[in-house]
Amino acid sequence: MPHLVRPIPSRPPARPESPRALLLGPLLAALLAATGLGATESVIANPTARTALALDGAWRTIVDPYDNGYLDYRLEPYDAKESPSGGYFLDRQQGSPSELLEYNFDTAPELAVPGDWNSQSERLLYYEGTVWYRRTFDRPASPAGHRQFLHFGAANYEAEVYLNGCKLGRHIGGFTPFQFEVTGRLRDRGNSLVVRVNNQRRPEGVPTVNTDWWNYGGLTRDVLLLDVPAVFIRDYVVQLKPGDSGRAHGFVQLDGAAPATPVRIEIAGLGVSAEASADATGLASFDFAVPGAALWSPEDPRRYDVRISAAGDRVGEMIGLRTISTRGSDILLNGRPVFLRGISLHEENPLRGARAFSESDARLLLGWAKELGCNFIRLAHYPHNEHVARVADELGLLLWEEIPVYWTIHWGDPATLDNAREQLTSLILRDHNRASVVIWSVGNETPVSPERTAFMTRLIARARQLDPTRLVSAAMEVHADPANPDRKVVEDPLAALTDVVSFNEYVGWYVGLPDDCAKVSWVVNTAKPVIISEFGGDALQGLHATALTRFSEEFQADLYRKTLPMLERIPQLRGMSPWILCDFRSPRRPLAGIQDGWNRKGLIGANGKRKEAFFVLQEFYKAKAAEAAAQAKAR
Ligand code: GCU
Repeated sequence: MPHLVRPIPSRPPARPESPRALLLGPLLAALLAATGLGATESVIANPTARTALALDGAWRTIVDPYDNGYLDYRLEPYDAKESPSGGYFLDRQQGSPSELLEYNFDTAPELAVPGDWNSQSERLLYYEGTVWYRRTFDRPASPAGHRQFLHFGAANYEAEVYLNGCKLGRHIGGFTPFQFEVTGRLRDRGNSLVVRVNNQRRPEGVPTVNTDWWNYGGLTRDVLLLDVPAVFIRDYVVQLKPGDSGRAHGFVQLDGAAPATPVRIEIAGLGVSAEASADATGLASFDFAVPGAALWSPEDPRRYDVRISAAGDRVGEMIGLRTISTRGSDILLNGRPVFLRGISLHEENPLRGARAFSESDARLLLGWAKELGCNFIRLAHYPHNEHVARVADELGLLLWEEIPVYWTIHWGDPATLDNAREQLTSLILRDHNRASVVIWSVGNETPVSPERTAFMTRLIARARQLDPTRLVSAAMEVHADPANPDRKVVEDPLAALTDVVSFNEYVGWYVGLPDDCAKVSWVVNTAKPVIISEFGGDALQGLHATALTRFSEEFQADLYRKTLPMLERIPQLRGMSPWILCDFRSPRRPLAGIQDGWNRKGLIGANGKRKEAFFVLQEFYKAKAAEAAAQAKAR
């Protein structure tokens, strides 16, 4: 479905596609949506700043492992067969005692939304299949002419959405937001919202069937009913002009506006009040001076209250202004070299053993990273919820964001490429105002082949088209020199295409022992900055033994002590994100009494307690920070 995709202008935007084509795109989407068969609308930006009814809380649910509510006994989807109204589990009410009805939402068990189903019920811990969700709600009061949209922060992995028995559409991809316009389709009372969520892994999926993380299913993020005026602000970007930190530029995309509608951007903290006119597609471009702007950085995460108004609609948020670039092997933040003292993170609150989804989850996890001494976090291996980048903006943490192009994706399948590109597009459009986000990653540990490199090349091009202002990378492949296994070579073809060369290494855990670090040499044929996107080893928190005892805290700490000097021998090293801040659930980790379904490479255990290696890395980062401060002072 055509997205209102706007390349973030590094110069005034080139003439967008013809207004007709652009108008046709949304018009086509609207027509399809009206039939109940359309895909999702392009997402309204900054939904939590909008007037909204939160549809969080207890939803009635029906576990449906045979997809009995979606497929008839010949495996034909009810949607296609009966009518656009869609599936079978659509809360039909019992008419008469003699009527056969084999389900009833009103008496069905409940699950909390947002939230994965796996952690809410022992019987669902390993469940992979369909769960039907149903929630009823009354239409909130709304001024005449306003429009309403259902917003889903994410649903893993596939969602079919029905309102009052009519299908609104479907969404594929477990970690990106989606919306449906429902203007004119709401009853005053008793609206019935039914969502089929299916988390079964698919060979052609993104990710594919094999991952080292838990396949949490469900309505895993916020569900909101948004209310906006007839003409509203759909999207916007405000950021520093690359190469000119005295000016800001960006765009505002209106929806439903007449040509030449005036649009205003105000930044009171900078005395800025800029106005521009929307063109025939509702796009207004801006370029204005930002005198004396304090640039955002981890040391001083200064943000400004940016207010946008047009045609009676107003929306705003706190936005940090900064630049990110590279120069030779240096990564430059606001034109100055920075070393990324990072850690990797899954979207999981280990204390609950569940998907993280809330602002408080983000504050807990990012607070632990700050305590570790980090200025950087790799959000592995998929887009995390929208709260994370907003909290990172506030706390001063640089972010690597990633799409789940992980391991053995189906490189030759055009639908798989479209899926990956759609997820990347959604991620960039959702977070393009987040100063904390500095790297878009197009994948992780993907085996080198011509098809894979062609696939990833398309993704890199998409990222650059949507956002030429941030860096692009991926966790690339490494191999040992057959003639000398202690000589590790990084020559992934992606290194020629990205801004930063990143790779994962596990010398001392999957390969040899920690002492082997001393004899390893790295051959990284690039003049670009290098980030070690993963290293580490498992330890069960509280298991103490000799430094040669696998899964002991002492072994993990010794591994860190011997890995760090090895990596510092790489002259282009400009950052690292060791694997990983916290233990996390994985079906690949069964070792009874030690792993029990958890990957134990965390520096913090699932019980929230720090392991010895946490303090080894903390000490290293403290020294790194002091070194950086001294260099900054000397400049
Ligand atoms: C891989 C992979 C991670 C995985 C880790 C491990 O590098 O990128 O997703 O969890 O290694 O083996 O623990």
